[in-house]
Amino acid sequence: MNRILVWDWPVRIGHWLLAGAFVLAWLTGDSETWRLVHVWAGGAVVGVVLFRLLWGLVGTRYARFASFVRGPGAVKAYFLGLFRHTLAEQPGHNPAGGWAIVALLSLGLLSGASGWLIYQDIGGEWLEELHETLASTMLAMVIVHVIGVLTGSLAHGENLVRAMFTGMKRGDADAAIAGARPLAVPLLLTCAATCAWWLAR
Ligand code: HEM
Ligand code: HEM
Repeated sequence: MNRILVWDWPVRIGHWLLAGAFVLAWLTGDSETWRLVHVWAGGAVVGVVLFRLLWGLVGTRYARFASFVRGPGAVKAYFLGLFRHTLAEQPGHNPAGGWAIVALLSLGLLSGASGWLIYQDIGGEWLEELHETLASTMLAMVIVHVIGVLTGSLAHGENLVRAMFTGMKRGDADAAIAGARPLAVPLLLTCAATCAWWLAR
């Protein structure tokens, strides 16, 4: 087994930008003083998610939804393998993680959309309640996600968090992605900044 590139630059930078923006939005949600920071951070969450949806269609091999959004059978087989310690190595996201990713991206979009409606004075108290519920559900999902990542790291004997920084995992040479696609990073950053600016108007 070699160390091969599996996560391109947009996936890695997008991930840590999404995580940072989410935490900032979460921490500033309650405060009037920090409202502008809140809507910028929330807007950045939306921008990263929109870019990620596009990247899930045209990105590198393991970034594509088609490579990690799998049916219930694959998820069940993954959990059985986890309990029986018979998991096979796999370069991309595992089937359980794949659904956590779909949930995180959806919740990011819905939290952002509901927050924007409130900011435009559309909807009433119910929408504020909904916004808070969506944000809390996303936080719960993040906690499940981090527990999943740590469990996966132990089960595979591989530091998956480090892989989200370096892009490298163990694998066969022919399973590597062809390139890290740095040229798509400015597009990601533009998307995040434009959404942050637009949603905060
Ligand atoms: C705080 C909010 C966070 C959000 C919203 C979030 C969201 C996501 C998303 C959407 C992905 C899929 C990446 C992609 O394919 O583009 C992902 C993967 C990943 N995240 Fe997070 N994440 C968060 C925090 C964290 C933290 C704190 C860690 C480290 C402990 C972490 C570690 C990872 C790892 C290692 C993967 C790749 C998992 C794999 O190997 O399949 N995430 N995360
Ligand atoms: C997507 C990430 C986001 C998260 C995690 C998030 C989270 C939160 C949280 C936890 C609160 C506090 C709710 C409460 O205790 O009443 C809040 C309030 C608020 N958020 Fe967000 N938010 C996000 C995005 C946005 C966006 C994009 C906007 C606007 C463009 C926005 C506008 C607001 C407003 C106006 C409030 C105050 C509502 C009230 O008066 O109760 N949020 N948000």
